Amino acid sequence: MSAERQPRVTVHRTDITTLAVDAIVNAANERMLGGGGVDGAIHRAAGPSLLAACRRIPEVRPGIRCPTGEARITGGCDLPAAHVIHTVGPVWRGGMAGEPKLLASCYRSSLALAAEHGLRSVAFPAISCGVYGYPLDAAAAIAVREIRMFLDAHPLPERVVLVAFDAGIESVLRAALGA
Ligand code: APR
Repeated sequence: MSAERQPRVTVHRTDITTLAVDAIVNAANERMLGGGGVDGAIHRAAGPSLLAACRRIPEVRPGIRCPTGEARITGGCDLPAAHVIHTVGPVWRGGMAGEPKLLASCYRSSLALAAEHGLRSVAFPAISCGVYGYPLDAAAAIAVREIRMFLDAHPLPERVVLVAFDAGIESVLRAALGA
């Protein structure tokens, strides 16, 4: 029986902190010292050792460990995931301040880090689509485009999960994936 080729990109409605994947991606801020939203959830589930690990990431400018559009990797601490890839999405300012390019860079940088570390499965939340106000449909299209381009050119990661925190996000992500 030929193994049905599994799609490499899927949508999953869940709390990202529950996923036992090689890495979950955190929608962080440039300080990398925690926050609300998924950042807060990940730090709560990972425990204080995650904050300690973030503090060990060197600052590239005073108070800034991860500039917008870039990514950094730490261990998963108490999470079921082995690693956390922290990326910083752009704050939505209307779309004419380079936001699309910076959001695309978040997905590319995170995937490049995963590949460099030989990771096979990575789960993303909808970066910038909460506190940072990025319109979900535009962000989902960028996410799917960048992930597909990266996976077409790289064997790792083998699997990427787009995590929807609610039904609204799930339907937009599924529509973007089906497009
Ligand atoms: N699992 C999966 N997705 C989640 C979870 C969770 N536990 N919690 C929130 N989300 C979703 C939100 O519904 C949204 O779609 O993550 C997406 C990103 O929203 P935010 O967490 O608000 O992140 P973002 O918009 O990128 O803003 C980042 O918020 O929490 C602060 O420190 C963070 O300053 C940074 C800013």
